[in-house]
Amino acid sequence: MATIIDGKELSKKLKEQMKDRVAQMRQQGIVPKLVVVLVGNNSASEVYVRNKHKACGEVGIESEVIKMPEETTQQELLDVVKGLNEDRTVDGILVQLPLPGQINEKVVLRSILPEKDVDGFHPVNVGLLSIGDDCYAPATPSGIIAMFKEYGIEIAGKHCVIIGRSNIVGKPMAALLLRHNATVTVCHSKTQNLGELTRQADIVIVATGHRHTLTADMVKEGAVVIDVGMNRNELGKLCGDVDPAAAAVAGYLTPVPGGVGPMTITMLMKNTLRAAEKAAR
Ligand code: GUN
Repeated sequence: MATIIDGKELSKKLKEQMKDRVAQMRQQGIVPKLVVVLVGNNSASEVYVRNKHKACGEVGIESEVIKMPEETTQQELLDVVKGLNEDRTVDGILVQLPLPGQINEKVVLRSILPEKDVDGFHPVNVGLLSIGDDCYAPATPSGIIAMFKEYGIEIAGKHCVIIGRSNIVGKPMAALLLRHNATVTVCHSKTQNLGELTRQADIVIVATGHRHTLTADMVKEGAVVIDVGMNRNELGKLCGDVDPAAAAVAGYLTPVPGGVGPMTITMLMKNTLRAAEKAAR
């Protein structure tokens, strides 16, 4: 039976450490600040933004949520970002995705100063990540690496199979694992013989947004299985992309909820603290 990787507990521990760090920073007159911009009425985004704001409060990071209406124009949003770029009291800027259809996400993400891009979505940070340089890495894959460290899970030389090639999870995950000397295979909706590949994996990371993408028969005995999914079943209950029956075969498994989710927000806090420390230098 798999050891359950407790993301909630680890997140709590890391937030306690960050709380001490923030207290020290505040003594030196540094007040880390994150501004989250939320455009429109996406209910899932509203929950995510509320959780980010709450986590900032727990750690001692000042946070502000700027809510803009659904009909906001691209220019109006760019003007807000420009103001935040220029505001020296703001260390981190996060524009919550998805954005309403009239706004080009790429243009907006590129308008955020790379030094304040705590999401790690700006092409400069994406490029730095891919060449293995110092950068802000996206929070979800960073949180997964932190879990491996906490549980003593070796990455170097391991075969890691990622299912999903999004810019938020799959691609940056591949870059981070390569940086840690893993052998990486990235699978996606057009991959043939998915099970054949996952059965060779020491570590499988599933980020497709579809329930039961990974079933027990697709897992090698003792493999580490990371479930990034956040779906609802027909009863409205939260569930991941991995069939829970995989727990009987896997060596380690992240639960949903309480696995990767809490770690994502914690790593965003960590990026914000780094931005504040860098800005103060
Ligand atoms: N929407 C879903 N996840 C994320 C995230 O990590 N950052 C932003 N900005 N939007 C999101």
